[in-house]
Amino acid sequence: MAEKKKPAALRSVQWFGRQDIYGFIYRSWTKNRGIPQDQFDGRPVIGICNTYSELVPCNSHFRTIAEHVKAGVLEAGGFPLEFPVMSLGETLLRPTAMLYRNLASMDVEESIRANPLDGVVLLVGCDKTTPSLLMGASSVDLPTVAVSGGPMLSGKYRGTDIGSGTNTWSMSEELRAGKITLEEFHEAESCMHRSHGHCMTMGTASTMASMVEALGVGMPGNAAIPAVDARRNVLARMAGRRAVEMVKEKLSLSKILTKQAFENAIRVNAAIGGSTNAVIHLIAIARRIGVDLKLADWDRLGRGVHTLVNLMPSGKYLMEDFYYAGGLPAVIRELGENGKLHKGALTVNGRSLWDNNKDAPCWNRDVIHTFRKPFKKDTGIAVLRGNLCPDGAIVKPSAATPKLLKHRGRAVVFENIEDFHKRIDDPGLDIDAKCIMVLKNCGPKGFPGMAEVGNMPLPPKVLKKGITDMVRISDARMSGTAYGTVILHVAPEAAAGGALALVENGDMIELDVAKRRLQLLVTPRELAKRRAKWKQPKAPLPRGYWKLYFDHVLQAHEGADLDFLVGRSGAFVPRDNH
Ligand code: FES
Repeated sequence: MAEKKKPAALRSVQWFGRQDIYGFIYRSWTKNRGIPQDQFDGRPVIGICNTYSELVPCNSHFRTIAEHVKAGVLEAGGFPLEFPVMSLGETLLRPTAMLYRNLASMDVEESIRANPLDGVVLLVGCDKTTPSLLMGASSVDLPTVAVSGGPMLSGKYRGTDIGSGTNTWSMSEELRAGKITLEEFHEAESCMHRSHGHCMTMGTASTMASMVEALGVGMPGNAAIPAVDARRNVLARMAGRRAVEMVKEKLSLSKILTKQAFENAIRVNAAIGGSTNAVIHLIAIARRIGVDLKLADWDRLGRGVHTLVNLMPSGKYLMEDFYYAGGLPAVIRELGENGKLHKGALTVNGRSLWDNNKDAPCWNRDVIHTFRKPFKKDTGIAVLRGNLCPDGAIVKPSAATPKLLKHRGRAVVFENIEDFHKRIDDPGLDIDAKCIMVLKNCGPKGFPGMAEVGNMPLPPKVLKKGITDMVRISDARMSGTAYGTVILHVAPEAAAGGALALVENGDMIELDVAKRRLQLLVTPRELAKRRAKWKQPKAPLPRGYWKLYFDHVLQAHEGADLDFLVGRSGAFVPRDNH
């Protein structure tokens, strides 16, 4: 009779299972808060990677979420150990949270690998906390579940709904145009963000929470349950239980994050009118886990996908409405029924994406449209090419003015964001609604950190004529809550010597989104003359993380990761001191 194979020991047994001085050290110090001996009997140890911080208001309820994850881990026979990692808040961090996404991912990766963990639950919420934790966890590749903190309740102002970011932009333009008072502006601040949770428009946080669900790395329902709804806590608890089971099933992250999973996520992003930031983040995550995802995949997969969700900034509703209407499961079902889904993609609950969502109901077709009668047609992210962006640039047609998607205009150039702020309100600025605003030096190296300034506010002299949109081009990003005919992520960026650096006032630029073209109408000879005069900018700080970032950051089309972080090293710790 064949000998029964012993199950492979868990990773954590290398710490807690030792019966020598080091085992004593590992266990004894851990017992100091009342952990009984039986927790070290070889049960799965689940790390709860927490981005709680009072400096990150969107994640300020994460202590409660962590308690619910812990309860789930304990119920399933695991041993939960919560740990903090660098948390990135969109509203307070300067110069931009994106500068620190890669730094936070290093913290996550090393914290997971260096500790006695068999599986991990990632608590994510505010924009950059989702990609940074997924990037770090991908480079280790343990069984992993992500739990989003959930969106805030809808903003309520003088009888109408107002949404994070989207109405911040519109109200600040109204203030600049003299249409509302400062008192009204202040009142709106108190009305917009009135509960725990992240931005409740389909901005970057809600987009990334949707990506978590679409990728299969989160539990069904992850995208939209409001932060303060009891069902968010239930989801956290179920995630804790699943993390334990996933360790037993050896269901590591790379079995979930396949090329098919990313392709599903790209189509879901088109269907929800999701943030352009998802392009950079998904490419960065894919490159960590070892999936070959390119900018061109976004264009290819987004074609023929329609926006189904009527949510700000593309539409009028908010995440709370989205959840009550059926949430992301109803969207995934529509995609699946119309041939736009890899149905067999595996998810963290052990079932396929299709099995999870094939019977999902929709309760409100004004919020979630059908594929046959979409909210907006053919609205996947368009990837542009041309002499101005040989490595690509992107535009989100669902947030743009349709008639501006084919446009030729005179460039009005701002050399950097300071130059923009200095001149934009000048009544003498030579600009009209047909011009194309060009902003340089706001890319990964140029800002540094690739700020969300691509949706430049329009000049007051244009706003006062009732014009609300102009073509804008930059190497920057745009907040997921913003809108307009905004060409973003121009690569290579100006600070890396891209053609954007060579644009001058008065140059003509031609945009044709249907043909995916963005062309600077200047002769190659003239461009060569300008290039000969161009000087590479220096790193803004000569030391520390800023220096490391400047020297190693990749361009937008490569995910803006640091070059030496691409790929994964697994969970093995190469050297043990003991
Ligand atoms: Fe945190 Fe918008 S500021 S999600």
